[in-house]
Amino acid sequence: MDDDRAAIGGRPGDPGPIVIRPAAARMSMVRGDITRLQVDAIVNAANNSLLGGGGVDGAIHAAAGSGLLEECRRLGGCPTGEARITGGYDLPARFVIHAVGPVYHGGRSGEVGLLRSCYEYSLRLAEEAGVETIAFPCISTGVYGYPKAEACEVAVGAVREWLEAHELPSSVRFCCYDDANAHIYADRLAADD
Ligand code: APR
Repeated sequence: MDDDRAAIGGRPGDPGPIVIRPAAARMSMVRGDITRLQVDAIVNAANNSLLGGGGVDGAIHAAAGSGLLEECRRLGGCPTGEARITGGYDLPARFVIHAVGPVYHGGRSGEVGLLRSCYEYSLRLAEEAGVETIAFPCISTGVYGYPKAEACEVAVGAVREWLEAHELPSSVRFCCYDDANAHIYADRLAADD
């Protein structure tokens, strides 16, 4: 940011106007296990109970330890399309943002809006917590059955729109665990450059 401000000719010590870096430069794809990432916050693909499950949810709870489940119990669940924030406990990440994606029922049950809302809600919570770096899994594309390419389109669109209007988070990683999502995101992000 300092470099950006210097580049537009502000006096030393003058914070100058806020410069928001282009959205495409702030999005990237990373392969692998989200629980290993050194970021400020990771997002969980949770269910309405917020009490854990399989897939990425199970991996996050296993890596974070029992403190996470205890905090989640106090939250009293979460509606589909929303998210809740907790500590990261034994994870490298300081925060976990638990987003509840829609179960895919063919695409005519409001799935696009609900999936989009998961990303927006998570980004709003991240901004409020001062999160600089955040990683998302491919929400709803496992057990919940959302077609991967369609989900990628929604995810990248929602994140790009957020980044165009907000300084935080400064960088967003799409964490792809399976080959299919990795290829889809690599192609999609390359097309945005
Ligand atoms: N790191 C990153 N991504 C992962 C990991 C991991 N360790 N494990 C699985 N994934 C990926 C899957 O490959 C998939 O692309 O996460 C994506 C989402 O799959 P699910 O975890 O099945 O999540 P979702 O489809 O949103 O279903 C949510 O599953 O585990 C339950 O409690 C959860 O009921 C909820 C449901």
